[in-house]
Amino acid sequence: MTKSRVTLPAGMLFLVAATMMVALANSKTQSKQEKRPFGKTQDGQPADLYILTNNAGFEVAITNYGGTVVSLKTPDRNGKMADVILGYDSVSGYENGKAYFGGTIGRYGNRIAHGKFILNGATYTLAKNDGENHLHGGLIGFNKRVWNAKDVSSSAGQALELSYMSKDGEEGYPGNLSAKVIFTVLADSNALKIEYSATTDKETVVNLTNHAYFNLAGQGNGNILGHQLTLHAGKFTPVDATLIPTGEIRSVRNTPLDFLKPTAIGARIAQDNEQLTFGKGYDHNWVLDRTSAEALSAAAEAYDPQSGRVLNVSTTEPGIQFYSGNFLDGTIQGKDGIDYPHRSAFCLETQHFPDSPNHPNFPSTVLKPGQHFRSTTVYKFSTR
Ligand code: GLA
Repeated sequence: MTKSRVTLPAGMLFLVAATMMVALANSKTQSKQEKRPFGKTQDGQPADLYILTNNAGFEVAITNYGGTVVSLKTPDRNGKMADVILGYDSVSGYENGKAYFGGTIGRYGNRIAHGKFILNGATYTLAKNDGENHLHGGLIGFNKRVWNAKDVSSSAGQALELSYMSKDGEEGYPGNLSAKVIFTVLADSNALKIEYSATTDKETVVNLTNHAYFNLAGQGNGNILGHQLTLHAGKFTPVDATLIPTGEIRSVRNTPLDFLKPTAIGARIAQDNEQLTFGKGYDHNWVLDRTSAEALSAAAEAYDPQSGRVLNVSTTEPGIQFYSGNFLDGTIQGKDGIDYPHRSAFCLETQHFPDSPNHPNFPSTVLKPGQHFRSTTVYKFSTR
């Protein structure tokens, strides 16, 4: 009796357990989009966190506060997931933060010398929020605004559309700029595609990018000096001591900025080199070798030999800012109470060149009424 009592429920238990495991496996591998509250801004605006997952379990969380990529979970060579992006647990971290973690940067990503430029004979004056220069859109850039959100998922993948209307005169820029960013977690690969678009009602300048900080070993897991980087760029734009381009377009040959072949980020970072001194490490714009101005071109690859994670960046943009996390100094505490030490992450910001409005020889960042600004960047993850 005891035996049959035990045998029957055990068999049933097995069935139930098996059914549950299948259900769990299915739920784990189902592409989906979830929405959770992410806190409120100091002036009471609520923000949400949108979690986009593909069938492989690759997961990207984005908040409509600042169009910010909050986390990105992808497997290592043994299938172990880790969050490879630095950030904060809620809106208040981003609101108080100064590092631009994961944010959508606009209206003009990177620097504009002395916060001044001339367009159609009119001089525009922007905030000087980086010493004498204007940086990343000013005091309250696109990364500190609340965006409207819409689920635009399709067979291509789970997708979130964020839109923001930047008013004429906001941060000193001319024209009402209607900006849109679509984040797609691709259905068929572990990739995040970011599509930017914008229109204006008055001639203006636009340069949009994302400021994600990556550590392919996992956020907070040591520094990135052992990551191997490749930049498909034979030239860069040298800067002065305030990180404003001199206007020259210089070959990377025989300099520590040559990443044409995979090289550890830390291999030459301490070399005695004027550009590295100015950047306190790498903080420069590389001129991408690309074949077309419209199609996506391979821009960069980063590989972490320890975890085996690989990041491939492709873009329609002409430049990329490689920043080696030189201003991270261990004082920032991020997600899950984790400290972010010096150079514990790197950024690969696809962009037009810094200070283009003041350099007629650089590709133009001017947007006119009737024109449609478009830019696409894909961050694709794999292992090796
Ligand atoms: C960009 C700049 C850097 C620094 C970071 C944020 O990458 O080029 O100089 O301002 O943003 O700290």
